[in-house]
Order: sequence, then C-alpha cells, then structure tokens
Amino acid sequence: MTRQLFVTTALPYANAGFHIGHIMEYTQADIWVRYQRMAGSQVHFVCADDAHGAPIMIAAEKAGKTPQDFVAGIAAGRRQYLDGFHISFDNWHSTDGAENHELSKAVYLALRHNELISTKTIEQFFDPAKSMFLPDRFIKGECPKCGAKDQYGDSCEVCGAVYAPTELKNPYSVLSGATPVLKTSEHYFFRLSDPRCVDFLTQWTQEPGRLQPEVLNKIREWFEPDEEGNNRLSDWDISRDAPYFGIEIPDAPGKYFYVWLDAPIGYLASLKNYFGKIDKDFDAFMADESVEQVHFIGKDITYFHTLFWPAMLHFSGRKTPNHVFVHGFMTVNGGEKMSKSRGTGLDPLKYLSLGLNAEWLRYYIAAKLNNRVEDIDFNPEDFVARVNSDLVGKFINIASRAAGFLTKRFDGRLSADLGVEGLTLLDALRAQSAAIAELYETREFGKALREIMALADKVNEFVDQNKPWELAKQEGMDAALHDVCSVCIEAFRLLTIYLKPVLPALSAQVEAFLKVEPLRWSDSARALGAHRIGAYQHLMQRVDLAKVEQLFEAPPAPKLVPGGEDIAPEIKIDDFAKVDLRIAKIVKAEHVEGSDKLLRLTLDAGEGKTRNVFSGIKAAYRPEDLEGKLTVLVANLAPRKMKFGISEGMVLAASHADEKANPGIFVLEPHTGAQPGMRVR
Ligand code: 2FM
Ligand code: ZN
Repeated sequence: MTRQLFVTTALPYANAGFHIGHIMEYTQADIWVRYQRMAGSQVHFVCADDAHGAPIMIAAEKAGKTPQDFVAGIAAGRRQYLDGFHISFDNWHSTDGAENHELSKAVYLALRHNELISTKTIEQFFDPAKSMFLPDRFIKGECPKCGAKDQYGDSCEVCGAVYAPTELKNPYSVLSGATPVLKTSEHYFFRLSDPRCVDFLTQWTQEPGRLQPEVLNKIREWFEPDEEGNNRLSDWDISRDAPYFGIEIPDAPGKYFYVWLDAPIGYLASLKNYFGKIDKDFDAFMADESVEQVHFIGKDITYFHTLFWPAMLHFSGRKTPNHVFVHGFMTVNGGEKMSKSRGTGLDPLKYLSLGLNAEWLRYYIAAKLNNRVEDIDFNPEDFVARVNSDLVGKFINIASRAAGFLTKRFDGRLSADLGVEGLTLLDALRAQSAAIAELYETREFGKALREIMALADKVNEFVDQNKPWELAKQEGMDAALHDVCSVCIEAFRLLTIYLKPVLPALSAQVEAFLKVEPLRWSDSARALGAHRIGAYQHLMQRVDLAKVEQLFEAPPAPKLVPGGEDIAPEIKIDDFAKVDLRIAKIVKAEHVEGSDKLLRLTLDAGEGKTRNVFSGIKAAYRPEDLEGKLTVLVANLAPRKMKFGISEGMVLAASHADEKANPGIFVLEPHTGAQPGMRVR
C-alpha cells in the first residue's frame, strides 16, 4: 500500500524574511520529502506564515499598516527564498486564513466539551497609555538583583537573574514609555495538569520511534512529580486580551487565542487549504489511521510540539503526530552570534544574489546533518572543500570524463554488454541502494552522502585503472573504450539517483543529458542498456572561496543621498545611550534681540520646571508657529554660556550638509501621543 505522509516544517513568524536557520530546516525536510516521493510515497508537504501575536501587531503598527497588510507583505517575499533553494512545499498558507479560524475554534470547543478549559483571574502589567496588557518582552526596568537599567521583564542580560516583570524596579512600557500598572483580567487555560493529560502524554511521548531518544530524555522529567510530589505539568494560559491580532475565543468577547494555540493548528489549516485546491477530502484523510503526520522543528520549540500540541489534538478527538523530528541550530563561522552590521550572518538572499549555487548549500547542509539534535556550523573553507572535492571533483567528474568520447566516437549510444569488471562495479553500486535509502529514511543525510562519495571513489578508481583517454589513442581499442565510458555513464546515473533528494535541479539537468524520465528510487535496480544519451554540457562549476567570503563582508555604509554626507563611524548602543533625548513641549518661542539666527525657546521636558534653550532656527520658523508644539531635546548636554544667556540643552533639527546651497532647517516633532519627559531611545 502507498505510504501517505503529511509533512510540515515549523511555521515562521510573519515579521521578517528567512534567515539561514529557516533554510536549514526547510532543506532538511525537503530532502526527506523528496526521498519519500522518489520511493513512491504520497507526500503532502505544507507550511504557512505564523501571523498572529502581539509582536506582529506592534510591528505592523510601527510600519503604519494593518496587521493583515503587514503579514501579506511578508508572505509576498517568501517565494524567492523557497524557489531559490528548491524547497518543494505543496502549499504555503497563513494562520490568519479562514481554515485556521474555523479549526482553532473547533479544537477549542472540543477541549471545552471535554472539560479541559478553565478560567482564572490573573494580575498583569497594563500599559495605561496604550490601553493594553504588556507581554513580558515589552516591559523594561531596572534589574531587581543588580540594578542594571533597561532590562527585559523576564530576565537580566547583565547578571542573568530571572524574575517576574512585577519585580522590576521603575518599570516602563517599551511601547509608550508609560509606567505600567497592575490590572486583573480573566484568562482561559488548557488544563494540562488534568490526570487524563498527564497519562496520555506519558504514553504518547514514550511510543517507540515517535521522538528521538535525547528529546524524550529532556521532556521525561516533566512527567515525574516534583520534590513535593506534585504534578509538574501546569495549566497553560491560552488567552490574551484585546487589542490582539489573533482569533477570537468563542463565547468570550474581547478574548483571543494566544498565538501558540492557533499556530500548530495552522499545520492542519494549510493542509485543508491545499486539499481545497486539489479537491481532496480533508476530513477523510485526517481520519485515515494509516496517514503518517510528521513535523520537522527546531529544538527551541520542542515543548510546544511534544506536550501542548499532541494533547490539544488528542483531546479534541484528532489524530496525533507520528513523528516530531527535532534538529539543532545552524551557526555560522564557529558559532559567532549572527549580526547584520558585522556581516557575520549568512543571509540567504545575499547568497543567491552573489550567484552562489543553491545546491552547493543544500549539499553542504545535508553533509552536516544527522538525526540527532545537534547544532551544525557553516564554515567557508569546509564548504568550498566539500563542494569542490566531493561534489564536483568526485561526482560531476565521472560524467565529464566519459561523455565526450561517447558522443564523438559512438554517436551517444551506450554499449549493451559491459565487461565483467564494469558489471561488478555497477553491481556494487546497486547493492547499496537499500542501505542509502534507509539512511535517507532515518535522516542520516551526512552518512548517506559519505556512502555515496565512497561509491564515487570506486568509480573514479575504475576510470583511473582503465584510462579511457589512453584507450582513445590506441588502435583497435574502440570496444574497450565504449565499455568503459558506458560503465561510467551508468554509474553516474546510479549516483544521480542517490543524490537526487539533495540535488533536485542538478538531477533534472542530468535526466535531460541522459534522456531519461525523472529518476525514481526503483530505477537503481535496472540498467540503461543500449540507450542513446544527449550531448554533455558542463553540469556544475567549482566554488570560488573569494565569492563565499564576500557573503560575510559587511555591506558598505550607506551614503546619505540628499545630504551628501558620510555616515559617522559606528558606535555601540552604550555610546548612544549616553545621549539623553527627551520629548519637550515648546511652551514659549521668541525673537532674541540682536541675533539674526537664534530663537529663545522655553521648554517643558516634564521636569517640573522649564528650560531655556537658544536654537539657530530663526531663518526657518516664526515663533508663534512653534509654540505648543512638541520636539526632541538633548537633555544632558552641558549648559552653554552664550552672549544672550545660558542655553540648557539643544533641540534636534535636520539640515543639508551644505546649508548655503540647500537652505532649510526642519525641527523634529514626534508622532501624536508622545508626552513631555518621555525618553527617546
Ligand atoms: O518559533 C517560531 O518561529 C514559531 N512561529 C513556530 C510555530 S510552529 C507551529 F506551531 F506553528
Ligand atoms: Zn541584573
């Protein structure tokens, strides 16, 4: 019976393009999926944007867009990555799609029906200026342990202390600068602590083959009682209050599902959306016991996929995942933290725009992957070595050494009866078909490629021993030359089958060159015979290390075009933090007797007193037009004694580098809502 697989990768947040970690995960899953398809399984491979949540809502607001428009903009950018790296998803959807709204509500109602939903009133920080509850990462303040300023609501980056946001000293909202207040609200919980959930998950996680051993080890402790004999699994808060970009909870006005409730349901929603397009019955498929549901995910989101997700599915009467395949992170250059400005990250689009071949990266990633939860590193020298010496030097070389003779001397026709030595070699290659298949099946891609390259070594030894270039020069050796080259091409075809899950585009070129139908795994059992191949065209270039190094060069500092002025040398965030910028209200603006440049401003920066500031903006503003307006003040500038009095700070204004040629001064004004005294950071 045909194996039926429903395969997903984690749904990426719809707030940015992809980084190398996404491409690594998609490549891993794609190789597995392509192998399965070649082996005859029916695979539905889907993904979607993870659209909801407070961070995306806030990012959209900052961009001046509705969350829907913002997310649509991100979605429109996905294609270039997926096509660029040959990722063969059958469908790309969004967790904000109609299917997901409907499925999420259905799952929730089923859980409620099973008495697994409860409510509890909790106290949380609320931003009075924004009128919204604040997620931990939108609250900052002084660390309760070491006193470091500007620390997040959950942990201190300076001393490492972990705490509740309510413990921060002088907390403020990252969104508005306002001091948050404690406010109560009713929240909805999924009762994961219910003995039914604990029993189910204990069993589910331990089902042989479902989880990798190290994953099971890590989560096992969650099912063991703590020191006081209590259940460690606690109820899961699944609601958020308006304003929130998400799915409304049925019968709970103003309450939305927490993004992590509807995100995994988005797997089902994308499949359902896809089945709508191909006219296939979603409910029947999901009710089919034989369907295997497989999720590829990163190690950071293991708990969501091995606890909450299977429990949600099971207790809403649905099938649960057969496998959750967890991978590690991808680091670059020995684990350096990725940073755009230092240019140490591997930007996937930059990779493509430099003209680097996507299949080099697929090959490299595959060569590094195994089925354990290990991080893998991208190293430029290693990358060049593997591509040039293995992929090109060992594999491509086989075809380029043999094809020319076949076309020139034998009209592209392969020899039908090969010598014993050649047949033995080909048998040895065919004999590995099942073992290599098993390595793909078990996601041991690095091992698979090592096996395949060992076979390529054998073929190259055969070429070195039989020396077709010498046979070609000798009288009466035509038949021998024909046999040797035909063996090489047949071997090349077998190796192409084995590499095809990793190198789909190259394999398509090989199929065109060999004039064969798309290669399937079972094609390794047959022989080409007296087949006629096409003309050989070079299949793959070598990588140039200099090109790879360009990937990591920081982009040149952008020129400020209208000002014609170079960007000042880079500073650290701490340097910037030394400048205390505050919102100030221009209470009064007046001419200064005897000065044709200056205006005298009286500013309120929320200090309970006003400041006197002289500003060289007389040419551009009438005093009465400034009064009552807000602007930005450099509040910790040392007071300066001027001819007309002391200036206690400076207001910010934009101007052209060459003010004479391009006159104009533009005083900065904040968006509405800013209050005098707020810090600008
Ligand atoms: O960690 C993340 O990037 C999440 N957006 C993954 C969600 S996976 C699934 F649950 F949707
Ligand atoms: Zn601290």
